[in-house]
Amino acid sequence: MEEIKVGLLGCGTVGSGVYKILQENKNSIANKSGAKLTVNKVLVKDTSQKLAVDVEKDLLTDDFEEIINDSEIDIIVELIGGVHPAKEFVLRALNSGRSVVTANKELIAKYGSEILSTADENGVDIYFEASVGGGIPIISPLKEDLAGNSVNKIMGIVNGTTNYILTKMGQEGAEFDEVLEKAQELGYAEADPTSDIAGHDAAYKLAILSSIGFESRVNIDEVYIEGITEIAKEDISYAKELGYKIKLLAIGKEDEGIEVRVHPTLIPKEHPLASVNDVFNAVFVEGDAIGEVMFYGPGAGQMPTGSAVVGDIITAARNIDFGAQGRIPCTCFEDKEFKPQAQTETS
Ligand code: HSE
Repeated sequence: MEEIKVGLLGCGTVGSGVYKILQENKNSIANKSGAKLTVNKVLVKDTSQKLAVDVEKDLLTDDFEEIINDSEIDIIVELIGGVHPAKEFVLRALNSGRSVVTANKELIAKYGSEILSTADENGVDIYFEASVGGGIPIISPLKEDLAGNSVNKIMGIVNGTTNYILTKMGQEGAEFDEVLEKAQELGYAEADPTSDIAGHDAAYKLAILSSIGFESRVNIDEVYIEGITEIAKEDISYAKELGYKIKLLAIGKEDEGIEVRVHPTLIPKEHPLASVNDVFNAVFVEGDAIGEVMFYGPGAGQMPTGSAVVGDIITAARNIDFGAQGRIPCTCFEDKEFKPQAQTETS
């Protein structure tokens, strides 16, 4: 079986999740990608720092040049976040003929056009499923499965940290700062959590979804942004008395022009988005053919976001192997034992 080598940039919350998944599920991943996927190098700030996962010492480097100049590496996975030096690293990787996987919403929202055209010019791919919705598959369905639709609305909860904060303030009467700290400990919040609570993280994600959904370049400067910093526990309990929940919504609409906004919203408690709690995200997409479809799942965290990144790595590997994006090699279907089918069992 062919071996495809991966260079990992960053081994923080998401990077360590990706490394773990690649190790723990390696056989199944090899089957599905048609190649053995091996991490060849891991870029970290300081090679003596303690990581959240056990990485072989000799894979670690603090020098990007060692990764870009490693001719064995086929796919580069950018998980350092922020714009600099992530942008320079991604562009160099694409220009060197490698496909790139990233979870970096800020980078894609701000420089998506340049990055996508650099990938095109070099005949390679850029994958960013993990940039929106953590573990929820949303970019790929929007680009592929829903491609037959004219999308006119995208609306949902796309930031796990703020949804976690609003949920805990509502359910437990917890204090804002205390819950934010917990969200940081759980690995939901950004390195600088201002991006979460001020609504910028949700705005990046909305710009990405709207660009794909509305087939337009939705610039981050076009998005109206209001975060949750002004929401008090009292607002949440008054809303509850009136039969509402407060959620930070990202809303994109196209109707004789595009409207994109992120702000706290009162949601009637019967609405499905009112029941999306904790770190979960949910996105409604409305298309002319499909009507309305809802995507729901864990919106942040090590393993869910790692799941989306690894999915992209597998797609990139399949594309290298077969030149057919997303194709599942039939060799991965094996004959397995079936349990007797109990008619009443649901789990
Ligand atoms: N800080 C982000 C969130 C991480 O809370 O949703 C996932 O993009």
